[in-house]
Amino acid sequence: MVMPPTAISQAPGFVGRPTRRVDGPLKVTGRAKYAAEYDAPGLAYGYIVSSAVAAGRVLAIEADAALQMPGVIRIFSHADRPATATADKAWQDEVAPPGHPFRPFGSDEIHFALQPIALVVAETYEAARDAASLVTARYEVTQHRVDLKRERATAYDPPEKRAGIPPPPAPRGDFAQAYADAPVKISADYVLAPEYHNPMEMFGTTVVRNDDGKLLVFDKTQGSQNVKAYLAGVFGLPEGDIRVVNAYVGGAFGTALRPNMSAVLAVMASLALERSVRVTLTREQMFALGYRPHMEQTVSLACGRDGKLLAVHHDAVSGTSPFEDYQEAVVNWSGMLYACANTKLSYALAKLNTNTPCDMRAPGATSGVYALEAAMDELAHAAGIDPLELRIRNFSERDGNTDKPYSSKALMLCYREGAARFGWSRRQLAPRSMREGNELVGFGMATGVWEAMVVPVTAKAILSADGALEVSTASSDIGTGTYTILAQIAADAFGLPLERVTVRIGDSALSAHPVEGGSWTAASAGASVSLACAKLKEQALARARRMTNSPLAQAAMEEVAFTDGRIALAGDAGRGVSLADVLRASDLGHLEEEASFTPDEKLAGRYASYSHAAVFAEVRVDEELGVLRVPRLVSAVAGGKILNPKTARSQILGGVVMGLGMALHEEGLFDHDLGRLMNHNYAEYHVPVNADIGDIDVLFVDEHEDKLGHLGVKGLGEIGIVGTAAAVANAIFHATGKRVRDLPITLDKLLG
Ligand code: MOS
Repeated sequence: MVMPPTAISQAPGFVGRPTRRVDGPLKVTGRAKYAAEYDAPGLAYGYIVSSAVAAGRVLAIEADAALQMPGVIRIFSHADRPATATADKAWQDEVAPPGHPFRPFGSDEIHFALQPIALVVAETYEAARDAASLVTARYEVTQHRVDLKRERATAYDPPEKRAGIPPPPAPRGDFAQAYADAPVKISADYVLAPEYHNPMEMFGTTVVRNDDGKLLVFDKTQGSQNVKAYLAGVFGLPEGDIRVVNAYVGGAFGTALRPNMSAVLAVMASLALERSVRVTLTREQMFALGYRPHMEQTVSLACGRDGKLLAVHHDAVSGTSPFEDYQEAVVNWSGMLYACANTKLSYALAKLNTNTPCDMRAPGATSGVYALEAAMDELAHAAGIDPLELRIRNFSERDGNTDKPYSSKALMLCYREGAARFGWSRRQLAPRSMREGNELVGFGMATGVWEAMVVPVTAKAILSADGALEVSTASSDIGTGTYTILAQIAADAFGLPLERVTVRIGDSALSAHPVEGGSWTAASAGASVSLACAKLKEQALARARRMTNSPLAQAAMEEVAFTDGRIALAGDAGRGVSLADVLRASDLGHLEEEASFTPDEKLAGRYASYSHAAVFAEVRVDEELGVLRVPRLVSAVAGGKILNPKTARSQILGGVVMGLGMALHEEGLFDHDLGRLMNHNYAEYHVPVNADIGDIDVLFVDEHEDKLGHLGVKGLGEIGIVGTAAAVANAIFHATGKRVRDLPITLDKLLG
């Protein structure tokens, strides 16, 4: 449960306390620099020309007029392109799905509309953009495929599975028989429109070329080391010749997990022209990137009169690109979340003329759990059982797919505390039975679930003579609060005020860290920083013991406290030494340690680890005016230990807002004649705005986690979105009696 700041009575320290973002002042004063804000002497500017067609090949790029424009330096395209790596392997980044990764200008082939076909490089951005408008192309157009409904017939089981994504488990029991025999059953199709990540900061890369030819690449990415290794491989550069910096990232939600085309093209131009180059994408071009895929799902559920699940079937077909088999865990949730002996789950892909989809906030779960949780609501209605009660009756103490116990699962607390906070008991069972004034009122709920993952991370801790502490790892802060939680952990380790701690992340030159994704950063980077600090304290104490007449000569780590730049006997603050004296006595300018956090594979093999949520939404529908609103929503989250209730709450708020967008607004619309996305702008692709958002109440339930690393943290970047769309859709059914299964639920569908 969230406690108000005053109620927190733990030892002085920052972990567990609502703490303001340490990078906040830099961001609100504009001093935090983003990738496209760095300057360099002689900087050239690249502007991308995008394909007008969705499938076929480029016959010719006509660039003469553009080349005549003042300030134009060179125009790159498949016809004029420096050499790059030939093997797919070099283009496969750390999170690439199986297949043949996209290579900008790799050939004349067109796989999707808005695919980059040329890069105009000029002395100014305006000159590049102006000249780009004069570049034309002739195409041979072939039949495109962008309609998943039609392509569902071509769906295939991806031959190569994506690393880290479990394919659907084998069937359990006998679904068909159990479904046939069951007294209560439902079966329905759920359709999801493609969604786009839409981070506020658009992609941009500034490549600063040093005199020695080495490249300093400022890039919008969730993984500086991923981009660095990729660029080195693609361009055959020694790793020492390239450094990637992503100090601040203006939102990403997964879109910056894989190296972006702006990075490839900026480095390509910089190497060829031997100068510094910046490439930025337009908002329209942001819609040419990976996205949350189109999805068609069928869920069939059956239960006894008591509501106990007897049969579960979940089938999903997801879009992917012509060249890669992008995969998510979509249907697996239906085999693990509730106890059921008869399950049948299947997942297939269909190729579409789009870029490869890309992980977007809780990829797979957001889509699959929507269908499952909407279907559970339909089953509850069919059985005449309260939807929350149905979840509780089917609560599972083990992961149904693996039969492993959970390392922790406080989902029951989410149900109870969330329901109490929301006032769920005021809900009347029948749809259309609650009304206030001109509005129909609906209460809906859903369960959310997401993986709790940890990954290997190395961190460094450095203590300087003035008592300041620096901790570092090549992590990223994509707006999640990474800077802040790492500062909290480090400050507590040494008993320092936050201002005495500097966190360095967002630089490939720092200690090893994978991409910031999967909600694993807080637990993993946090653990590595805490280990590095512990090691550094050991070193400091060992040196303190050896000092002449040291009051700590016999002191063990458990007997001392680190506070305010001193090590002293616990309970006798007078008997101690200052860290500055320790450094002086050792004749050192600073003390330094590096440590690695490694997930305990044995524990991981024995337990299933997930974060959970219970989402409760109220909707109000004025049928006469055609107005639908969500005045309030409660998200009760079990995410292990909460390091910072303030940034944690923000993560859940963001996830809920994105879930509201999924439920009610967001939808990529294709022109099926041209194969092109029609609404690649904010006028027509609707993300929620302030006016769309009512009261969002976030609460964290008490959950003790001790198998996932010593911090007990699960990660919160993604759990907030899962379940939200279903809770809203279910509330709309409860308000109106109308079930809309394809998202977003726009008024035309509701009134139609
Ligand atoms: Mo997340 S979709 O792994 O950024």
